[in-house]
Amino acid sequence: MSEKKRLRSQHSYGARNKDGFIHRSWMKSQGLPDDVFDGRPVIGICNTWSELTPCNAGLREIADHVKRGVWEAGGLPLEFPVMSLGETQMRPTAMLFRNLLSMDVEESLRGNPVDGVVLLGGCDKTTPGQLMGAASVDLPTLVVSAGPMLNGKFRGRDIGSGTDVWKFSEAVRAGSMPLRDFFAAERGMSRGPGTCMTMGSASTMACLAEALGVALPGNGTAPAVDAQRRLIAHESGRRIVDLVQRDVRLSQLLTRAAFRNAIRVLAAIGGSTNAVLHLLALARRLGVELQLQDFDTLTADVPLLVDLQPSGRFLMEELHYAGGLPAVMKNLAPLLDPAAPSAATTTIEGHYRDAECYDSDVVRTLEAPVKPVSGIWVLRGNLCPNGAVMKPSAASPALFRHRGRAVVFSSIEDLRARIDSPDLDVDENSVLVLQGCGPRGYPGMPEVGNMPLPRKLLERGITDMLRLSDARMSGTAFGSVILHVAPEAAAGGPLALVRDGDEIEFDGPARRLDLLVAPAELAARAAQWQAEKAAAPQVRGYAKLYVDHVLQADEGCDFDFLVGASGSEVTRESH
Ligand code: FES
Repeated sequence: MSEKKRLRSQHSYGARNKDGFIHRSWMKSQGLPDDVFDGRPVIGICNTWSELTPCNAGLREIADHVKRGVWEAGGLPLEFPVMSLGETQMRPTAMLFRNLLSMDVEESLRGNPVDGVVLLGGCDKTTPGQLMGAASVDLPTLVVSAGPMLNGKFRGRDIGSGTDVWKFSEAVRAGSMPLRDFFAAERGMSRGPGTCMTMGSASTMACLAEALGVALPGNGTAPAVDAQRRLIAHESGRRIVDLVQRDVRLSQLLTRAAFRNAIRVLAAIGGSTNAVLHLLALARRLGVELQLQDFDTLTADVPLLVDLQPSGRFLMEELHYAGGLPAVMKNLAPLLDPAAPSAATTTIEGHYRDAECYDSDVVRTLEAPVKPVSGIWVLRGNLCPNGAVMKPSAASPALFRHRGRAVVFSSIEDLRARIDSPDLDVDENSVLVLQGCGPRGYPGMPEVGNMPLPRKLLERGITDMLRLSDARMSGTAFGSVILHVAPEAAAGGPLALVRDGDEIEFDGPARRLDLLVAPAELAARAAQWQAEKAAAPQVRGYAKLYVDHVLQADEGCDFDFLVGASGSEVTRESH
């Protein structure tokens, strides 16, 4: 190997001087013998394991399986921690820290003598944060995901992470579920390590890593506790050594063709709207041409093929046993580019060419889909000049075209204070509007776009309303929810100008979202709008960096100074 190409790590470990002594000697404190510094590929295992990220709690063990494969293939595995982002634990929202994780990954990779990396992530923001950081360094890279939890159980039936939390919570508020049952469900939902077992953001990104060709087949769906997850980790350890030896870097895999395939898969699986932000940000790190509009254009003819919550019925275990993502991609093949690259096989077609579907209820065909409409609608209009998104597979077709009066909440606190008030002037035809929850306004763009319905309407049996905000929504959530309005209210977008009683017109099939207020009146309101009142005050630290530099949703919410890549070269020594 070493005679073919001098690897990056040899700058440190191959030096026959003071610097080489320093780099090697301190590593030998861990019991490493002389010959592991002989020029073999050094593989970083970038781990987001944390007890504060329960979804990633199995990754310590998974790292050991990756190491076995690396050793076996003749590499030197070195595990290192990076910031972990627990979606259910971090406040005000894990999304606030996705870019910080990406910076941690980028600098850890560039600063250390590694030749390739295996990214161990799972919980929602960990996968995109790791991939974004790795993309800006551009070493050979593979993703091994934590894998989903086993199906939740409650009184003899399956319950889904997140999706059933929203349902149970509304049932408690409507008075149809006693708190005793609510707490019993809480104990049964999360049965072991792993990510949400619905098609939430974590499963979406794990599947998309597979569709992008940067993870081995099976990575998207194998349960966290399944032996196949360990097998994938082991095989990934072998494969990353091969990728280093062949110098197959991340930028060679993440091409526009790979992104196009991933976006079509996103629609077929009924994946999370969060993937829009993550794929846009990732593409921009790599200089791949990708626009918000692509998500609509590329998914307009893709039906929902996977019958999984929140868009359908089943959970990740069923999808895996049905054949996993390879079975989905085989059924989607007429709409995929088979020549897109893959880390596992020569082309992505190798992932699915020989796949079989074992449960046609869970994985459907293009001819007999779960729903004819899926994907991402990208809306335009005077309420969202730079776009907004909706996931029609999780919405009510009866609300695909709707006109109603706005009921406006200026902040999440305002919403929480008034949503259940008997005096709230609202009916089922109203449009709930939430301001101040975008990337800068909150800050961090939390998953609050699926606003709770007013209690008085829940008690009347109303289960969905049109809702509109600059926030995000959990991938596990559902409803007729318009998200990611850009520019956000805190950036002076027209969303900031909506007032109670304004008429809002939504036409999903035509992709329109308009505020029916005269231009002169809107201009007068805009003149009154004061940016300093809309933006959350941030005086110091990371939150200030974030608010000062975060881009809007239509650009993926990366930091302006992180767009692009700096490569892996470091020219100076540390001593
Ligand atoms: Fe971690 Fe859902 S909360 S994957």
